[in-house]
Amino acid sequence: MAELKTTYLGLNLRNPVVVSSCEITNRINGVKQVVEAGAGAVVLKSLFEEQINTELGGSQGFSGSAFPDEAELYLRELGKTHGPKSYLDLIRQSKEATDVPIIASVNCISGRWWVDYARQIEEAGADALELNIALMPLTFEETADQIENHLYQIVRDVRSQVKLPLVVKLGPYFTALPRVVQNLVAAGVNGIVLFNRFYQLDIDPETLSPAPGYQYSTSQELHLPLRWVGILAPKVSCDFSISTGVHSGLDVVKSIVAGAQIVQVASVLFTRKLTHVTTLVNELNAWLDEHGYKNVESARGQLAKAGKFQPEELERMQYVQALAGAR
Ligand SMILES: Cc1cc2nc3c(=O)[nH]c(=O)nc-3n(C[C@H](O)[C@H](O)[C@H](O)COP(=O)(O)O)c2cc1C
Repeated sequence: MAELKTTYLGLNLRNPVVVSSCEITNRINGVKQVVEAGAGAVVLKSLFEEQINTELGGSQGFSGSAFPDEAELYLRELGKTHGPKSYLDLIRQSKEATDVPIIASVNCISGRWWVDYARQIEEAGADALELNIALMPLTFEETADQIENHLYQIVRDVRSQVKLPLVVKLGPYFTALPRVVQNLVAAGVNGIVLFNRFYQLDIDPETLSPAPGYQYSTSQELHLPLRWVGILAPKVSCDFSISTGVHSGLDVVKSIVAGAQIVQVASVLFTRKLTHVTTLVNELNAWLDEHGYKNVESARGQLAKAGKFQPEELERMQYVQALAGAR
């Protein structure tokens, strides 16, 4: 049996399979179940900035949000039952009931409503804080620089308030991702999650109104985070976590080999069962044994070793492939 112990953000994990922020981790029972199934750590469901705002009786905080009107209403309602106070309780309960790192998550569009709250998260015992930052450029005035600076400011605001390890979970839509990641590290983050998977918009052809698209990922979606972690992990000094498209033990292996410290899983736990966590851990273990790796650490980042992966060639290969396909 290979050694699966892993560190992430300076925390000790029994293995690198982490359950990501989703409905499962919104309740103590879900947290307990995935930990029993073998999860190395748990990221709690995000507390949305609007929920904090609602509990404080505020009416602002939606500007620049990635959420349309109905979502705002939903979040206001959610804020009444699942507000910041019960979130702190969930952190405390999760810490009491389990012995794995518990990572809190906040979905934020500005720093101001919850910088204080980040301190309360720390006091409640969370082991780290994941900032799920979804800034949607909806105006024609805002520039890429402004959006990116806003991102760094949020991180600096939080960093100045808490000592907790900080992680930023990003979406994939950046023109110059390497620089954004580098600047986030300079602003004080300890880890980056690539990528968040945004609400999938569809259209109801009868009512001609927006409808939710398929909520869950497939293994096919792993290619994008794999590419970026493969490119960035050898060059940027922070931990990387792969989220989106990890469905099998081999997907976990590929993520580790690309250089990820951990993987985060959500969709596959909805489309299969919560106990699929055990399968992922066992399959990772079997692969390490079969391939002669004594531990996860020795397999990590193998892609970059011995010049097996030249990111510069990737774009060229893509171009050549497109031409070959056209022929
Ligand atoms: C039902 C559901 C709820 C989610 N809620 C959150 C959330 O509150 N915060 C967050 O950062 N990500 C949330 N996500 C995104 C997941 O954490 C994850 O990043 C995404 O689903 C991609 O991983 P996957 O391919 O394993 O599903 C949610 C995903 C699902 C399916």
